[in-house]
Amino acid sequence: MTAQDSINDYWTGRAPGYAEHQLRPERLADDTAAWSEVWSSALPATPLDVLDVGSGRVASVLAGLGHRVTGIDLSEGMLEQARATVKDVDFRLGDAVAPDLPAGSFDAVTAAVLEEAGLTGVTVTPLTAIYDLDQKYGVAPGHDVQTQYLITGGI
Ligand SMILES: C[S@@+](CC[C@H](N)C(=O)[O-])C[C@H]1O[C@@H](n2cnc3c(N)ncnc32)[C@H](O)[C@@H]1O
Repeated sequence: MTAQDSINDYWTGRAPGYAEHQLRPERLADDTAAWSEVWSSALPATPLDVLDVGSGRVASVLAGLGHRVTGIDLSEGMLEQARATVKDVDFRLGDAVAPDLPAGSFDAVTAAVLEEAGLTGVTVTPLTAIYDLDQKYGVAPGHDVQTQYLITGGI
C-alpha cells in the first residue's frame, strides 16, 4: 500500500463525518458568505473554467459564484459526499499530482490546502473572517482554531 493509498483510505473513512461537519446548518450561511468573499477576491468575476483539486467545499463555493468547475479527488468516499451535496460541479476521480486532463484547459486551479507549487508572484492573505467563524462555531474534533491563508500565484 502506498502513502497515497493510506491518504485515500483515511479520507474515505472520514468523508461522512467531514461532510457533516462542513455542512453544519448553524454555520453554513456564514461560511458560504465568507468563503465566497475570499474566492471573489482571488478570482475575476468573469466565469472561468476552474479545476479544484482535493475537491468539495471550495468547488461548491466557486460554482455558486458562477464559475464552471471540475473537481478531482483520489478518495472515492470524498467524491461520493461531494456529488451528493454539491450541484453544478463535475466531480471526477483524479490525482492532483498528475491530473489526467488536457494541458491548458483551465483558467485557474484551486485547492483548500495548497503546498509549494513553483508559483510566481505569490501572495499570502490571512483569512480573518474565517478565523472569527471558527472561534464562534468551533472546529472539527481534534483540530485547533488557527489562522487559514488565501495563497495566490501565477505560472
Ligand atoms: C482537507 S480535505 C479538503 C476537501 C475539500 N477541498 C473540501 O474543502 O471539502 C483534502 C482532500 O484532498 C484529497 N487528496 C489528497 N491527496 C490527493 C491527490 N493526490 N489528488 C487529489 N486529491 C487528493 C483528499 O482525498 C481530501 O478529499
